[in-house]
Amino acid sequence: MKAVYIKEFGGTENLEIRDVPGPPKPRGSEVIVRVRAAGLNRADLLQRMGLYPGPEGFDPHRPGLEFAGEVADVGEGVVGWRPGDRVMAITAGEAQAEFVSADASLLIRIPDNLSFAKAAAIPEAFITAHDAIWAQGGLKDGETLLVHAVGSGVGLAALQMAKAKNASVIGTSRTQEKLDAAAEFGLDHAIVVTGTPAFSGQVAEMTGGRGADVILDLVGGSYFHENLKSLASRGRLLLVGLTGGASAEIDLRLALQKRATIIGTILRSRSLAEKAEAARSFAEQMMEHFVDGTIEPVIDKVFPASSAAAAHEYLASNESFGKVVLEF
Ligand SMILES: NC(=O)c1ccc[n+]([C@@H]2O[C@H](COP(=O)([O-])OP(=O)(O)OC[C@H]3O[C@@H](n4cnc5c(N)ncnc54)[C@H](OP(=O)(O)O)[C@@H]3O)[C@@H](O)[C@H]2O)c1
Repeated sequence: MKAVYIKEFGGTENLEIRDVPGPPKPRGSEVIVRVRAAGLNRADLLQRMGLYPGPEGFDPHRPGLEFAGEVADVGEGVVGWRPGDRVMAITAGEAQAEFVSADASLLIRIPDNLSFAKAAAIPEAFITAHDAIWAQGGLKDGETLLVHAVGSGVGLAALQMAKAKNASVIGTSRTQEKLDAAAEFGLDHAIVVTGTPAFSGQVAEMTGGRGADVILDLVGGSYFHENLKSLASRGRLLLVGLTGGASAEIDLRLALQKRATIIGTILRSRSLAEKAEAARSFAEQMMEHFVDGTIEPVIDKVFPASSAAAAHEYLASNESFGKVVLEF
């Protein structure tokens, strides 16, 4: 079977489509899926550079954290899934290939109104955002959510789900056009961040001086101090992405004064049971909105898998609005 393969860790010239052994025979609770589309993630860029290998058992040369396709074969312990079923899921690696093996507990049924490309744009971004905002951040009715890099894959997922739950959403971006486009997905307030980050004053104005109850931070280090300043009393800061750096100085007085909760989160290295729970909770609470069209996966570009190098370069350019997807 064909798979995206990292010949050597480094630049995009090291990406190729290679014949690898497979598809494997499923055992126990495993399902083999014929992949039709697979989302591209920042983690794949890091993996290509040799900086972020998958957990044990996953080939570090074979990227791919999410997929959409048809069930091809099921293990003897699988109940409820049959060959031909349209499914999507997160996994910890190797999803950018013609076939992928996944535990049945991770699978989510694709609604009839979604193409494989659209479905492939869902699992990583939406499950990450859903788990962070609700399971960990405990966003409640009437609260305000601040989403950084709101035009990103995870950012737009967060925005759409929060609007479906009637939250008020403030979004930031370094790109005005992305904020204008995010307004069409219900963004209540937009802040363009240029130069040294200084958004806390605007957040205070937009919330009548209260601050944000939950912050979904996809930027990290460079936004940390302003994030603390932007929190409402008893606010929750979710650290999800580090595109703006991995270190920051903490003003502990602010953390105390705000009675702040700071939570770091990561999906890839979690146990199967934790991932299955995050997937199940997201599907139960949100899939109906994809069926009735209140939420739609936002795709910027679809590339053939053979153009994985171009797809990596495009994602790294920061130009994308929403997800980048590979098709097989
Ligand atoms: N913890 C987890 O389990 C988990 C899971 C999924 C993703 N993530 C992380 O979440 C982040 C977002 O992922 P994604 O797939 O949604 O990303 P994406 O679609 O590639 O978008 C990232 C956006 O972040 C903005 N950005 C980049 N560098 C920045 C900087 N130095 N300062 C401020 N903004 C910057 C850019 O938009 P602008 O035009 O707005 O600048 C860029 O388009 C990534 O860091 C990713 O690794 C974490």
